[in-house]
Amino acid sequence: RIAYVNGRYVPHGEASVHVEDRGFQFADGVYEVVTVVGGKLADEEGHLARLGRSLGELQIPWPVKPAVLKVIMREVVRRNGAQNALLYIQVNRGVAPRDFRFPANPRPSLVLTCRRTKFQTARQLAEGVPCVTVPDIRWLRRDIKSVALLAQVLAKQKAVEAGAFEAWQVDPDGTVTEGSSSNAWIVTADGVLVTRPASNLILNGITRQSILRLAGELGIPFEERPFTVEEAYAAREAFISSASTFALPVTRLDGRSIGDGTPGPLCRKLRQAYMEYVG
Ligand code: PDD
Repeated sequence: RIAYVNGRYVPHGEASVHVEDRGFQFADGVYEVVTVVGGKLADEEGHLARLGRSLGELQIPWPVKPAVLKVIMREVVRRNGAQNALLYIQVNRGVAPRDFRFPANPRPSLVLTCRRTKFQTARQLAEGVPCVTVPDIRWLRRDIKSVALLAQVLAKQKAVEAGAFEAWQVDPDGTVTEGSSSNAWIVTADGVLVTRPASNLILNGITRQSILRLAGELGIPFEERPFTVEEAYAAREAFISSASTFALPVTRLDGRSIGDGTPGPLCRKLRQAYMEYVG
């Protein structure tokens, strides 16, 4: 395995950053996960656009021009001989003496790693996955794909300890925000696809945006609005979306069966459409 660290391609086991890297000291950075499907980068433009937006919100300069980053992304995939993989890209404010203020002349750090994956198992696709709900204890700029992920780590661990695949985070008003590392979707009893609108309260998933576009093209009725946990319990279908899960059926929530407890047709259709689009 080969990683990229600040201008160098290095063996994965030797890839490291300085102890005063602000990503390490302050989680002062942002990231993207881009899926590689059959050797091709999925939704690359969307991920680069969101990276630019996240950097802009934190006033971190691009470490290299986006066109150069595209070359590095391809080179990391190529050097790893990756067909099906997850490409991780982190940009942070770089190495500087520990001080909360922005450094005067930042030299942002750029790190890329690549990990091969088989994506979902046949069983996960055939049976769907269980999820649990947890309070959303995060900050109010969830639209920034920040590397500060402690709340998500705790949420995912709660899911794991409950024997679930993902945790759906819930705001104090009882509405589901999103998964720990995915967006949350339901299909109502009338067959309407529902997902929360993009705002500061969720990360606007690139997969989410593609699925909404595909739903429109397929003539599937959809609404972008918040939904409650109660509504999710009563849903006909539920699923999650992300670069690493595409659209993955959720068949149990907090131990209750969703719909008839098997993966639903709309999720299946959208997953298929997404795989054709990226394939
Ligand atoms: N996570 N919401 C959160 C909080 C996420 O962390 C992610 C992605 C998503 C889905 O976004 P996208 O469709 O662009 O992947 C939604 C990535 C996969 C991760 O942290 O590994």
